[in-house]
Amino acid sequence: MNRTIAIDGPAGAGKSTIAKLLARKLDLIYVDTGAMYRAMAYYFLSHGIAAEDEAAVAAACQDVSVSIVYENGEQQVILNGENVNGVIRTEEVGNMASATSAYPVVREKLVELQRRLAEKTAVVMDGRDIGTCVLPDARVKIYLTASTAARAERRYEELTAKGIACDRDEVERDIRDRDYRDMHRETSPLCQAPDAVLVDSSEMGIDEVVETIYNIAVSK
Ligand code: DC
Repeated sequence: MNRTIAIDGPAGAGKSTIAKLLARKLDLIYVDTGAMYRAMAYYFLSHGIAAEDEAAVAAACQDVSVSIVYENGEQQVILNGENVNGVIRTEEVGNMASATSAYPVVREKLVELQRRLAEKTAVVMDGRDIGTCVLPDARVKIYLTASTAARAERRYEELTAKGIACDRDEVERDIRDRDYRDMHRETSPLCQAPDAVLVDSSEMGIDEVVETIYNIAVSK
């Protein structure tokens, strides 16, 4: 039986935290596709390639190999043989990923990898276009969102807890910019698939969101 679960939604909605817990609960493999776009973005940044330079991004794509391995159940992203998990979680890399993920050449490369992973095993996959493009036949599709204010607050708390100094308004502005880019690009923009269930986590705790999606999944 197809047990695949697709979770899409904007930045800061809690997709990765929820998807990871859900995968554990349902004994599925968690695939974080944002981490793959981040790995590519990290490559572009570390090679001095500007986000606006589509030709340079396209040329660089030919030199980039991204793959995934699992260590103690945790996804590790391998970029040209190097584990980059420790360096892709910054705001700079996230913004670069948002900008360069608009290019079809970047998406084609990663969508193929994502589909191959889902063919091999049952997954909970999160991202922006999983239910609409990568896995249109997923059995369960969730569009997980939260208000901009709630997402900005969570991101602010997360950064502060890591000891990263930041400004609340700037974090919120950043989230709005990222939403705009992710929702308005031409190729596979972020949107709710017609057959996805909307879950708004603005007023919910992590356990409640996991329980809600779990119940949707087992009732299908
Ligand atoms: O989920 P995240 O913040 O790690 O993703 C970083 C960026 O990558 C996001 O702003 C847009 C892009 N992305 C995408 O275009 N498609 C996906 N399936 C996942 C992420």
